[in-house]
Amino acid sequence: MERVATVEVSPNLALNKYWGTRDNMPKNTALHNNVAVHLDGLRTTTTVRLSDEGKDSFVINGKPVSDKDFERHAKFIDYLRGELGFGSRVNLVSQNNYPTSAGLASSAAGYAAETLATVKALDLELPETRLSYLARSGSGSACRSVPYGGGFIEWIVKEGYARQLAPPEHWPDFRVVVGVASEGEKEISSQEAMKRTRQSPLFEKWLSNGEDDYQQIRRGVLNKDIHAVGEAAERNARRMHRLIRSTGVTYWNAQSWPMADAVEALRDTGTEAWWTSDAGPHIKVFCLQPDVPVVEKTLRESGALRTIVSKPGEGPMYADTHLPPVKTLSA
Ligand code: DP6
Repeated sequence: MERVATVEVSPNLALNKYWGTRDNMPKNTALHNNVAVHLDGLRTTTTVRLSDEGKDSFVINGKPVSDKDFERHAKFIDYLRGELGFGSRVNLVSQNNYPTSAGLASSAAGYAAETLATVKALDLELPETRLSYLARSGSGSACRSVPYGGGFIEWIVKEGYARQLAPPEHWPDFRVVVGVASEGEKEISSQEAMKRTRQSPLFEKWLSNGEDDYQQIRRGVLNKDIHAVGEAAERNARRMHRLIRSTGVTYWNAQSWPMADAVEALRDTGTEAWWTSDAGPHIKVFCLQPDVPVVEKTLRESGALRTIVSKPGEGPMYADTHLPPVKTLSA
């Protein structure tokens, strides 16, 4: 029998950010508890086939991954082999329906899907918390794409995994509007940039301010309070980007600044719209459903190449149809 499994997973968007490392901490350990939302309509579909011959192979969006990405995926699969006690080779094929590696959290959905599909292909039943814990080793934010219930998720640092805070139907008119600023891939990985920020004079401040942002966002989500969530999320993102820029790295491009400014100007006219941004140039706006048209117009007029609108999404789902295998030179 072919050992194969396919899973569909959504990326997640952090309301307050996982950013930074500290000495002597396990890999991909957040500095602060953080809250994120699964993004409806954005999906990574991943098929894992296990075989006893050949080598591991990773094909994403129709192409074998670069040497650097191969190393990262292969290392993660070695970690799973050690944790789960299997020896088979992993042949992975994955497809995203949104831009890859450009700050739309494709690594979150990607490593979550890699974990879930591998475990399923092995026919193992593991608790969700363990799956989330395992996915974290591939990419920190991946632990937040694992919880099956989807919706709003919180990553509890001392537990080492993420769990559901509230299901998608808890706040059905919460919206994320993404102003896409580039279709390209980012040049500096989050891991590399996080290491650099460790040396920044702003790092200690980032450490000490994070807990308040988390608490305000957590309460805001539970109370469905867009003002509380948006205010803390934007403040947190602004601080993170200031910290990143202080090391000479910037993920923003010529479209990002005018989009963020335009969102702030829109808010001055009374619309509850608040921006965030990750390790990429896109500006993502938190607002409520009736304000989506004005937010999209604002983003388009200030530089967005296009917009993507998303609401709180479902969690991972297994599928019975599999992506076709792709032969690579390494496999
Ligand atoms: C800015 O999870 O991509 O999106 O652990 O190095 O894979 P690695 O980092 P990753 O970093 C996410 C950073 C962020 C903020 C967030 O999603 O919390």
